[in-house]
Amino acid sequence: MKIARVKGTRDLLPADTLRFGAAEEAARRVFGSYGYGEIRTPELESTDLFTRSVGEATDIVHKEMYTFTDRGGRSLTLRPENTAGVVRAVVENRLDQGPMPLRLWYAGPQFRYERPQKGRYREFRQIGAELFGAPGPAADAEVLVMLFDFLEALGFRGLSVSLNAVPAGEGREAFSAALRAYAGGHAERLGEDDRRRLAENPLRLFDSKDPATAAILEGAPRAIDHLDAESRRHHAAVMELLRAAGIPFVEDPKLVRGLDYYTKTVFEVTSSNLGAQDAILGGGRYDGLVADLGGPPLPAVGFAIGEDRLVDVMPLAAAPAAGRVRVIPLAPDQEGYALSVARRLRRDAPVECDLSGRGVKKGLAAAAELGFDEAAIVGPDEARDGTVTMKNLKTREQKTVALAEIAR
Ligand code: HAM
Repeated sequence: MKIARVKGTRDLLPADTLRFGAAEEAARRVFGSYGYGEIRTPELESTDLFTRSVGEATDIVHKEMYTFTDRGGRSLTLRPENTAGVVRAVVENRLDQGPMPLRLWYAGPQFRYERPQKGRYREFRQIGAELFGAPGPAADAEVLVMLFDFLEALGFRGLSVSLNAVPAGEGREAFSAALRAYAGGHAERLGEDDRRRLAENPLRLFDSKDPATAAILEGAPRAIDHLDAESRRHHAAVMELLRAAGIPFVEDPKLVRGLDYYTKTVFEVTSSNLGAQDAILGGGRYDGLVADLGGPPLPAVGFAIGEDRLVDVMPLAAAPAAGRVRVIPLAPDQEGYALSVARRLRRDAPVECDLSGRGVKKGLAAAAELGFDEAAIVGPDEARDGTVTMKNLKTREQKTVALAEIAR
């Protein structure tokens, strides 16, 4: 009996990992050039971490988490996102006491029990970055500028950011109350799930995928009208800085993002190439989260890119290594010598040994078909003389040379 992979998970095969690797290398290079260090946090965290940060009434916590009780009776969750884990790690490792601003990036798998479809998986990967200890609008702008440098490095052109700002504190409560009053007047048209949202946290109505709810929300109170004066100034300044930096953005008053921790700036980038018009990335400012998770008051802003979606629409072609050589032994007797030849040649190029035992004729045909540039043929003469016959698979030229000559 065959065992299939778990629904909503993927096997990333070498052709895929080449593209994922290229995206991660670009992240390491571009984010590194902005002063970001890489952090890796556990895939398994205490369930409380997510209920307290992402929020009880969000889709993620309400119905998408992989939560289980371990053998010691603890409630654990496979992380649905990485911001909460990074914040926990910052506080737990006292990075909040160290030099500021603190810049951290990450790449790794996340888990959400969603209905799988193209670009939506139950295990998916994110590349993200979080900037701590910088309260002003220039931090939001820097994060977005870095994001665009990264996207451009991968060949993306013509993308724009959807931008909004959400209120915190009293403004958020007033916005919530206004939304509740407004949507309460249309409660009979709301589905069961959206009635729950209305009761628990009316902001979450904006996450609804129900077209009836979307229609009702057309006339709803706007987040941006409930910002306090300082947040309004912050938002205006972010937009000014983005204009100055030449980052294209569109204001989207309906954008609130499906996680509870945001304050002020929220943003998303969508790609029309993604079929369902889904976001390739999302982020924003979360000035209250570090304190909420037991740390000091430390402002923060960041984003996460859905790596599976990014790689799907990424223009950059990830090329396999060039100059590859295939060592082909004439017969099993020369396989030992072939191994040592390959080892020597590897100082200059990626080298694979054809150990299939199919002999030189078939071996050469296979090497050419697989796109190798050169074959190193080793037979009894070569083994005896310490030589190798190098054949250029493109021009068919060949010559026998002493091994000591080609690889120094
Ligand atoms: P998020 O919007 O929940 O934000 O996720 C960010 C991105 O992850 C999405 O835009 C999408 O590309 C990708 N994603 C989410 N769910 C799936 C899925 N089921 N399959 C494939 N891709 C998916 C966050 O996670 C925040 N932690 C972002 C952030 C960082 N905010 C501040 N700092």
